[in-house]
Amino acid sequence: MAKAKHRTAFGIDIGGSGIKGAPVDLKKGDLVADRIRLTTPQPSTPDAVADTVAELISSYDIADGMPVGVTFPAVIQNGVALTAANVDDAWIGTDVDALLTERTGHDVFVVNDADAAGIAEMEFGAGRRSSGVVLVITLGTGVGSAMFVDGKLVPNTELGHVLLHDDDAEKYMASSIREKEDLDWETWGGRLQEYFSHIEFLFSPTKIIVGGGISKKHEKFLPLLDLKAEIVPAKLRNEAGIIGAAVLARKEQKALEKGEEGTEDKKPKKHK
Ligand code: BGC
Repeated sequence: MAKAKHRTAFGIDIGGSGIKGAPVDLKKGDLVADRIRLTTPQPSTPDAVADTVAELISSYDIADGMPVGVTFPAVIQNGVALTAANVDDAWIGTDVDALLTERTGHDVFVVNDADAAGIAEMEFGAGRRSSGVVLVITLGTGVGSAMFVDGKLVPNTELGHVLLHDDDAEKYMASSIREKEDLDWETWGGRLQEYFSHIEFLFSPTKIIVGGGISKKHEKFLPLLDLKAEIVPAKLRNEAGIIGAAVLARKEQKALEKGEEGTEDKKPKKHK
């Protein structure tokens, strides 16, 4: 019984259009039950999103004390959102951990969405057993990044916001921009080449893992790129955020049980 409890954690991925979640088997890196997707409320204010997260969790019969990991598309420090690039500005300064813990009655740990996807890829996907500097870049509405040095996450790197042509790179080469501007693969590939060359120059990664929904069409654009680093598609794709958030939640809970600080730059929580 206790074993089963520690093998499972709940993962939730909060995105601009959908909020998805499922219980995760932490040994296999797989969903234990079908995931549920609810539409992100508009406007996506903290209150409205917290209600949707609570509704999603209550659709499952999850054990008391099961940790819940939640991804959020912002810089997260000590459970607090410090930015809001593609979500409602009301999130800035919100203690997301505290809000969701109070609203759901579960122990919630929040993490940047790309960091969560990166954690899952490093543990179960394209980054397994990779050492050195590994970058996971997610191409979606915005562009997210997770940086690992010998398997250890450097949180909140925000490489979608490096400057390219005097503006945030994500405004030039995100997957949403390809759709909005109806760019063909070659044109978008050219923009990705500029972006990844710049990132490669700055960080000299040994491996770049490309995630986000568009990574399932990787054969359309990854072969167009010419880089020194190995560049590969993510393996877990849509589930990466859910799985990574669940993995992190269990790690953070364990660290708190041992009375240590968490791994994601957190302070021990008041509610424990
Ligand atoms: C945000 C990041 C997020 C990324 C992907 C960016 O606009 O600043 O925090 O990881 O989008 O959602």
